[in-house]
Amino acid sequence: MSSFDSKLYQFAVKEANEAVAYDGKGQYRQAINKYQRAAESLIQFIKYNNNQIMIKKCKKQIEEYLDRAKLLKSHLNGARSIKSATDRDIKEAGGEGEISDEEREILDMISGTIITESPNVKWSDIAGLKSSKQVLREAIVLPIMKPKLFTGARKPWSGVLLFGPPGCGKTLLAKAAASECKATFFSASSADLLSKWLGESEKLVSALFKIGRLRAPSLIFIDEIDSLATKRGEGSESGGERRVKTQLLSEIQGMKTTENKPMLVLGATNRPWDLDNAMLSRFQKKVYVPLPDLEARAEIFKIHTKGVNMALDDEDFIELGVRSERYSGRDISNVCREVIMMPIRELDASGMLEHPEQEVKVRDITLDDFKKTLKKVKPMMDNKDLARYEDWAQKYGEY
Ligand SMILES: Nc1ncnc2c1ncn2[C@@H]1O[C@H](COP(=O)(O)OP(=O)(O)O)[C@@H](O)[C@H]1O
Ligand SMILES: [Mg+2]
Repeated sequence: MSSFDSKLYQFAVKEANEAVAYDGKGQYRQAINKYQRAAESLIQFIKYNNNQIMIKKCKKQIEEYLDRAKLLKSHLNGARSIKSATDRDIKEAGGEGEISDEEREILDMISGTIITESPNVKWSDIAGLKSSKQVLREAIVLPIMKPKLFTGARKPWSGVLLFGPPGCGKTLLAKAAASECKATFFSASSADLLSKWLGESEKLVSALFKIGRLRAPSLIFIDEIDSLATKRGEGSESGGERRVKTQLLSEIQGMKTTENKPMLVLGATNRPWDLDNAMLSRFQKKVYVPLPDLEARAEIFKIHTKGVNMALDDEDFIELGVRSERYSGRDISNVCREVIMMPIRELDASGMLEHPEQEVKVRDITLDDFKKTLKKVKPMMDNKDLARYEDWAQKYGEY
């Protein structure tokens, strides 16, 4: 080893040791930084090293450091990891007895998949959907905030299902409800669960509900629930899929909301007709989240251009609403993103952004910009798809 190599290696070891120390103290940002530097130094180190045993050892370490950094990052993004939530639960519950070693292991594994975030979405961030908001207030927010009011015959619905076309605010509504009632919010995307944990997913589901119970009042939000509970025929369903579905059904069924400790399940789906019948019946309340109406569309244009200089008045926004029939909230947000980049793109094309110190003036957005973009960015839904939602809503849902 040359002296440069050996210094590089020593540096990597030092960084790694510091990373572990920060990690242990819960100073995750510093830990991520140190893990990454340790990994980078080792990568440099093995470039110039011929010792196969050493290279193998380093590669393993690099992988470990990067994995750990990635996991910590996803924890930070999700505000709080399920593991730390669990540690606190155990303390609050007065000992280790509540959670077995096996479950703890599962929880450690799933911490990247299920997040217990504190969403920060306000009702006012969501345009339109007045009646959906009202239903969620009555079915989720109030029972969690004022459990005493919802006893006896007035007990809350244990399960609420949001259904409707993609991109129309189901996930947003769930987050706003959770923000308002300050419940612990467990958000699990089913597609993610299933693809990553095939074979183990039912353990995951049971762990999710167990933690939910411990952390009550809690709101368990299962997004894209159709992928966990389809009514596909016995034949085409794999054993793993069936086990997850059964587990989920029995967890929802067995869910007990005790006084002061409410626990509710909120599901969301773009494909309600694919849902297993037994699962459907567990969701006593089914709330339709339709495409935005004219007024809501105008409002969504406003929400998604906030803070950008605009040469548009209220009437122009109404005109945008008129021109965007059948656009979902997400479609409109895509249009807005496109439009607000236009002046920047023009400046860039004219070479005005070459000099970092030069002040540049960004022009206002005009109605014309929107018109052009609306011609390019088309809505995802067609009338036939839409009719299917309307029919289903007539049959099962409420507005
Ligand atoms: N009613 C709405 N008001 C404001 N923004 C909306 C609305 N509906 C959808 N959006 C935008 O579209 C995106 C997707 O919405 P989301 O709630 O994830 O849809 P869904 O869960 O129904 O598929 C949101 O992040 C938001 O930017
Ligand atoms: Mg969604």
